[in-house]
Amino acid sequence: MTKEQLLKTYQEIYGGAGDIRYYFAPGRVNLIGEHTDYNGGHVFPCALSIGTYGLARKRTDRKLRFCSLNFSEQKVMETSLDDLIPAEEAGWTNYPKGVIWAFEKKGYKLDAGVDFLIWGNIPDGSGLSSSASLEVLTGTMLKDMYGIDDLTMQDLALIGQSSENNFNGMNCGIMDQFASAMGKKDCAIFLDTNTLNFEYAPVILSDAKIVIANSKVKHSLVSSAYNDRRNESETALRDLQKILDVKTLGDLNEAQFEANKDAIPDPICRKRAKHAVYENQRTIQAVQALKEGNIEAFGQLMNASHISLRDDYEVSCKEIDILVDLAWKIPGVIGSRITGGGFGGCTVSIVKTDVVNKFIEVLGAQYKEKVGHEAEFYVVEIGDGARKLL
Ligand code: GLA
Repeated sequence: MTKEQLLKTYQEIYGGAGDIRYYFAPGRVNLIGEHTDYNGGHVFPCALSIGTYGLARKRTDRKLRFCSLNFSEQKVMETSLDDLIPAEEAGWTNYPKGVIWAFEKKGYKLDAGVDFLIWGNIPDGSGLSSSASLEVLTGTMLKDMYGIDDLTMQDLALIGQSSENNFNGMNCGIMDQFASAMGKKDCAIFLDTNTLNFEYAPVILSDAKIVIANSKVKHSLVSSAYNDRRNESETALRDLQKILDVKTLGDLNEAQFEANKDAIPDPICRKRAKHAVYENQRTIQAVQALKEGNIEAFGQLMNASHISLRDDYEVSCKEIDILVDLAWKIPGVIGSRITGGGFGGCTVSIVKTDVVNKFIEVLGAQYKEKVGHEAEFYVVEIGDGARKLL
């Protein structure tokens, strides 16, 4: 949808005049470093060129009106700055409401409401962070429209995460909001989630492309299963802290983990911690391999990441394993793994450029035959982070 189309619809819904501003925040794909961001480890995501677009205009009263063009019915949902509580019937508007709530919690009280229209091109339920992009979009919009100059883009990522944790009840880490707010064209972000130190690493794959395969399944109870994983990792950390001076699982390397793992009595929690420790080390090694131009090594680490997420962290599912197993057998595939929170969603693969079309054709056909419905494929373009558009 173009800006002109969006603006026309905006004016039809909310009326024509005034200072209507236009914003964008991207989705993300994580190349490696999964379920490490709330374990004090490293992640390596990049912002996508797809994301969520929004038009907004300040009101003179305290009303908040939201409308999304992603549903067949164009429904305007109304609330107010005096009613910032999560509500089931508020649906997707709980995300922008949560961000406004988090701004107010930080002491940024808004003096007037807003009329907000959004449209996004991140496939629904794909795990490519449509909700984080909506949070970061809202933060970007508020910062600009209300002249909140002392907030940085990194602050907006943290506010988005806080709104998701405390308003929407999903105990996510910082990765998705950080990637959406801080993304940089053609680069992935090597982020230490313990310190928030980061570095942009150019993704130079010479004769290969990043391809996302969407399994088009999203299993239920994703956020409760996610919160369970987080609790299990935290239990393991507390066990280790009885004998070791560590702040997070990210402080340990593989040898230190192996030498001390018996301090974690519960075998499930031990497996979760093993994943967190090994995945963090794999991420550090993968970034080094990329810098050295060793894409093959990067791919091997992606494959190992998948096995660990499947067997130790147990966040994969049948459909995703089918996509990955099939991809591993296709010549020209350098690496393939589940990406994002898990329990459905997408895989990310590095595929030699000259076999990308064949990869999509073969994997698409084999997946349909085994699972019964089509997968969807996107060849990734790495874009910039959230911003005001003209
Ligand atoms: C979800 C969360 C992130 C991160 C990933 C797993 O996307 O929002 O914070 O934990 O899962 O790596």
